[in-house]
Amino acid sequence: MDEKIIAPSLLAADFANLQRDIEMVNHSDADWHHIDIMDGVFVPNISFGMPVLKAIAAHATKTLDVHLMIVDPDRYIKTFAELGANNLTVHYEACPHLHRTLQAIKAEGMAAGVALNPHTNINLLEDTINDIDLVCVMSVNPGFGGQSFIENTYEKIRALKELIDRKSAHTLIEIDGGVTSENAKQLIDAGADVLVAGSFIFRSDDPTQTIKELKKIIG
Ligand code: DX5
Ligand code: ZN
Repeated sequence: MDEKIIAPSLLAADFANLQRDIEMVNHSDADWHHIDIMDGVFVPNISFGMPVLKAIAAHATKTLDVHLMIVDPDRYIKTFAELGANNLTVHYEACPHLHRTLQAIKAEGMAAGVALNPHTNINLLEDTINDIDLVCVMSVNPGFGGQSFIENTYEKIRALKELIDRKSAHTLIEIDGGVTSENAKQLIDAGADVLVAGSFIFRSDDPTQTIKELKKIIG
């Protein structure tokens, strides 16, 4: 994987001006739209659900990278495919039958992602890594934007990269939480392919320019 990817997280967008913020991403140097779905059970927060995703999909022109922070995601795999998700990421901690879940996501024509909470060890993916298109390494505890980056993430990225290479897998490494222009380069150097950034982009004075800068740093 050569080109490194920037995925602005719409969780930090202005929900009263969602179309404006989606179009900003459409016309920017960003590669994907990262969309966080929270159910108030798997994580202590509720973001938005299907009707909002439908509205987002109607305007978004880039890859829809959907991050499910919900229990029992299998119930909704088909629905998310119909809504236009390109990548569907489930949490390792929410999937007792992860292998089956991954096959179900791929059967719906989506790329299959697995997210790991900060406490979840990379080695738990030893037996599934060849079935995973993307691993989302959470660099904050999921549930909220604007938290500070957990430093142990670098070690996890290196361990994951080693596992992917050892198994000759073709899995992208995505980092989600607390990404800024300060840590972007170091994350890519450790082995990351995709950087999700919410507050750093949407809370900046010029989000388009901030995306451009991030892309330049990791390019
Ligand atoms: C957190 C979400 C993230 C969040 C990142 O649970 O998965 O995608 O939006 O936000 P920042 O970049 O503000 O940490
Ligand atoms: Zn996310």
